[in-house]
Amino acid sequence: MIDWLNSVLAGRPGWINALMIFCATMAFVYVPWDFFFKPVAQDEEVWLGIMLHGVAAKLSEPLHGAIYAAGAYGFYRMRAWMWPWAAVYAASVAIGMFVWCVLYAADGIGALLLGAAAFVPFAFLTRALWCAEALFGAARAPLSHRYGEWALVTGASAGLGAAFARALARDGVSCVLVARRGERLETLARELEQSYRVATRVVIEDLSDAAAAARLIEAVRDLQIAILVSNAGFGAVGRFEALDVERLSRMVQLHCTVPVVLASRLLPGMRARGRGAIVITGSIAGRQALPLHSVYGATKGFELLLGEALWVELQGSGIDVLVVEPGPVETEFQRVSGEIAHAGQSAEIVVERAFDALGRQPALISTWFDWLRVNLGNRLLPRPLVAFVARDVVRKWTPETRR
Ligand SMILES: NC(=O)c1ccc[n+]([C@@H]2O[C@H](COP(=O)([O-])OP(=O)(O)OC[C@H]3O[C@@H](n4cnc5c(N)ncnc54)[C@H](OP(=O)(O)O)[C@@H]3O)[C@@H](O)[C@H]2O)c1
Repeated sequence: MIDWLNSVLAGRPGWINALMIFCATMAFVYVPWDFFFKPVAQDEEVWLGIMLHGVAAKLSEPLHGAIYAAGAYGFYRMRAWMWPWAAVYAASVAIGMFVWCVLYAADGIGALLLGAAAFVPFAFLTRALWCAEALFGAARAPLSHRYGEWALVTGASAGLGAAFARALARDGVSCVLVARRGERLETLARELEQSYRVATRVVIEDLSDAAAAARLIEAVRDLQIAILVSNAGFGAVGRFEALDVERLSRMVQLHCTVPVVLASRLLPGMRARGRGAIVITGSIAGRQALPLHSVYGATKGFELLLGEALWVELQGSGIDVLVVEPGPVETEFQRVSGEIAHAGQSAEIVVERAFDALGRQPALISTWFDWLRVNLGNRLLPRPLVAFVARDVVRKWTPETRR
């Protein structure tokens, strides 16, 4: 519990932590209590110093709650949009305090003095937040400076893996590119070398082969791998009995065994150097049972729990861990999985968000919509009900013969 609290409070000045806790308390304790339990007749809400009563107060409370929730989240993640948002909000509170004192708290000169006394602390807070621009959304240092020279990217011949490799190379990181389609890897390697002046190494492996991960480690023994991106993967949509068990076993090998072996063999070097990063491409598919993608969902759940556990174990080691959990992404995944084509996010955006989140959090769901549906659904509803809903979503992408 103490370690968790320390990890939540780390990386922010104390006064920002105090604001974050205040916002969270308002959003998740005070405002819900006001909204659900305070009788309408007694309800009061102040906006810019003007007091609302009764129904008007009640109706405005969700907006107040949303503002405080956004504040708590913004401080928690130190998002770039908090500047100047937080300073402007603090200024509105300062003005509101003055107006409220003048209108309701006292008369004459007393009201002005009281108003000024209430205004001053919030004016100081406004100034402090205005001057704190550099704290919010601070540009991250290039990955090569943070972690080291070489990255190993599995599944680099297409989709997210290729996007990971390009983003790493753009940040000056040399890349080991791994997949089965060698020609594609060679083409990408030339592109990275010419565009970003980094070194590359191509390793052609079918990682679903039981001995492939060990061969891959052997192939990079002379390199100091600073960043591991365990990304290679594929899906297989359809009823469990309609799927080829050999293909499913290879999926389990690729999604479960390979990330374990690669992380375990590369971690000692990272430990010795006191820095490094492990990125695992999971999926929101791993957040709940996923009928019609049953084995795929289970393996993605494995990756999530593995990554979150490593994130805790590696606290303070200088080694960052992130499980990236995209929803649908526009890559070759849907075709390979046998899904009916549907819209998805761009791989480049997922990767950009992943590298922004690396070092800040253990897992990243890459869109707000997916974050909401995963968290609201999975945390509030019974698991069997969520599994039925998930089946209905996947059914739309499943060819009729395999439903
Ligand atoms: N696209 C999505 O909607 C989505 C959503 C959530 C999570 N993900 C996850 O994102 C990861 C990347 O998928 P993607 O969307 O980029 O799909 P993709 O475009 O199909 O790319 C998959 C990559 O994995 C490689 N790969 C597959 N089987 C392999 C094997 N046996 N050995 C070595 N490499 C192998 C492929 O290379 P070769 O074929 O050349 O071997 C390819 O480079 C996967 O783990 C997937 O589960 C994807």
